[in-house]
Order: sequence, then C-alpha cells, then structure tokens
Amino acid sequence: MARRKLVAGNWKMHGLASDLGEIAQISMAAQAADGTDVALCVPATLIHRAVAAVPGFTIGGQDLHANEKGAHTGDISAAMLKDAGATMVIVGHSERRQDHGEGDAIVAAKAAAGLAAGLHVILCVGESLEIREAGNATRFVSDQLKASLPSLSDAAGRLSIAYEPIWAIGTGKVAGSDEITQMHDVLRASLGEILSPEVAESTLLLYGGSVKADNAADILGLANVDGALVGGASLTAAQFGPIIAAAENAAHSA
Ligand code: PGA
Repeated sequence: MARRKLVAGNWKMHGLASDLGEIAQISMAAQAADGTDVALCVPATLIHRAVAAVPGFTIGGQDLHANEKGAHTGDISAAMLKDAGATMVIVGHSERRQDHGEGDAIVAAKAAAGLAAGLHVILCVGESLEIREAGNATRFVSDQLKASLPSLSDAAGRLSIAYEPIWAIGTGKVAGSDEITQMHDVLRASLGEILSPEVAESTLLLYGGSVKADNAADILGLANVDGALVGGASLTAAQFGPIIAAAENAAHSA
C-alpha cells in the first residue's frame, strides 16, 4: 500500500507572534506538495494564532495531559488543543520523557487521550547512545513501542510513530541508512504483532534526529521511511522547504 509522506516540524520551545510570518512561508512551501502532508507542532501559545493566520494548514501541539480536565496546573488537554484548532499532537518525545520523567505508561495514556479526541498522534520512541553502543537498540525500542502504545480500535491512519534516536536529536549526528531501515522494519513488524497487520500498514513511520536539507533526500528515500519529524531545521521556510521538497520527490518516486 502506498502511504503518503508526512513531514512534521517540532518547534519545541521556539516561536513568538513575530514568527507567524515564517509559519505562513512554510505553509506556502507545503501547498506545492501534493503527495506529502506537512504539519507544524508549535508551542501551545501559538496554536490558535497560527491556525488563524494560516487556515487549512495543519497545526499541532507538542504534548497533552491524559485527562480531559482537572487540577493539573500548567497542563493542556486534548480538548483544549482541539479548541485552539490543533489537529495533531506529539507524545512521548524524549525531551518530555527526560525533562518531565514521563514513562511509557503515561505516554500510552496520553496517546490514547489524543486518539480518543480525534487528533493525529505522533508517538516518539528512541534509544540512548549507551543502549545503542551496548547493542540493545532494536530490543529497547520495540519494547518501548509495546509499552507506549495505547490499545487502539479505530486509530488507523491517525497514528504515526517517530523513531528518534536520542543521540541524533539536535546533535547533527544522523542515524545511518542501515540503522534507520533496520529499526523501521522492526517497528513495522512490532506494530503488526501488537495491533494488527492493517494498522501496521497504515501507520506512518517517521524518522527524527538532525534531519536537514542535505540529508533529507537520502533518509526520506528509504523504503520503510514514511516521513520525518524535524526539530531545528523546521524553524525557517528556507531550511524546511527543501525537506518538504525531498519528501515530495520520494512520494512521487515510490
Ligand atoms: P532535531 O530534533 O531535528 O533538531 O534533531 C528532532 C526532534 O527532536 O524531533
């Protein structure tokens, strides 16, 4: 089955009202792509303004609380994200796992909440350098996937998995083609075992970690790579545009 490509930008803790023009520029680059979905996951404070500034462009959040509402100071619910106009959310990013101590069970609950609310959920997994060097990367990541996945009934097409080796995030180091291919094959097989072959087929597998204009074509051209989750290089249209174009090329040559 041919899957569309998805290139999602993760703005992390970057972005002010003065950056809305950049989002508009990025959305213009996205408009030219017909085989690739493009999204930006921006800080919560920008979601509503970005949606208003660029109607029709996919805007997402970077985290959510598993509960619908309640006494959770500083948190944001799936309903709030939707209310602001977001249609997507990232869960389980390694920076959340590390900075906020989010374990797999919390990530699974967050993913379930996002899916139940009708959001597209990008669930992140990935190993540390220590685990990779010990030769345990594929075992670790497939176990992490199993423990972080919500039980799904109708999520087909609204779940993406981002493989983001922690040692490649923001470091300029990119996983090699063989490492990415091996991990994505393992992830696809695990999805088939844990959920169903149909969900495994329809789930997009994204790679994340130092994706840039000069390596995007190689990464996005790999057989089992359906897109990318891009941090630093998603902040400007000048850097993100070529990544979108590389996804588009890959989509049309698949
Ligand atoms: P990076 O971040 O592209 O800056 O390495 C990727 C991510 O953390 O999603």
